[in-house]
Amino acid sequence: MDKVMFTVNGKSVEVEAEKNWTLLYVLREKLDITGPKPGCNTGDCGACKVLLDGEAVNSCTTLIGKCEGRDVVTIEGIAREGQLHPIQESFVEKGAVQCGYCTPGMVISAKALLDKNPEPSRNEVIGALDNNLCRCTGYVKIVDAILDASEKMRGKGGE
Ligand code: FES
Ligand code: FES
Repeated sequence: MDKVMFTVNGKSVEVEAEKNWTLLYVLREKLDITGPKPGCNTGDCGACKVLLDGEAVNSCTTLIGKCEGRDVVTIEGIAREGQLHPIQESFVEKGAVQCGYCTPGMVISAKALLDKNPEPSRNEVIGALDNNLCRCTGYVKIVDAILDASEKMRGKGGE
């Protein structure tokens, strides 16, 4: 076991971990942060997405050893002081919270996109979700919600 230190949702953490453990495993099983979901565990579905230094990554294929000194944000760290983030508000308002399994990863991908590109086109939003699978309903409301959040965030000067 090795010690790994990193930041999760603004707090420094130190965990004893085997090198081959994934970030998803450490978050869920060692830190009780269960927003990132285990779906495929092969990097294909996006249910486990987190922000790693601002980039949306699949935590199921990110080895914990790569996280030393880095900044991780999970869905639990997106809201601020009890207030939903505008992306979360828009997901609720547009009926895009279709299930609890894929939604955390969708919100994380949306956050990574809007932080870099505050005014994406519809196609750019669709492109940002190309590694987020929905197996049950569809993407129209999710894309609508992200475009709505983009407008809200620009109106507020960004979040
Ligand atoms: S569980 Fe990580 S991409 Fe599916
Ligand atoms: S809405 Fe979550 S998998 Fe379809």
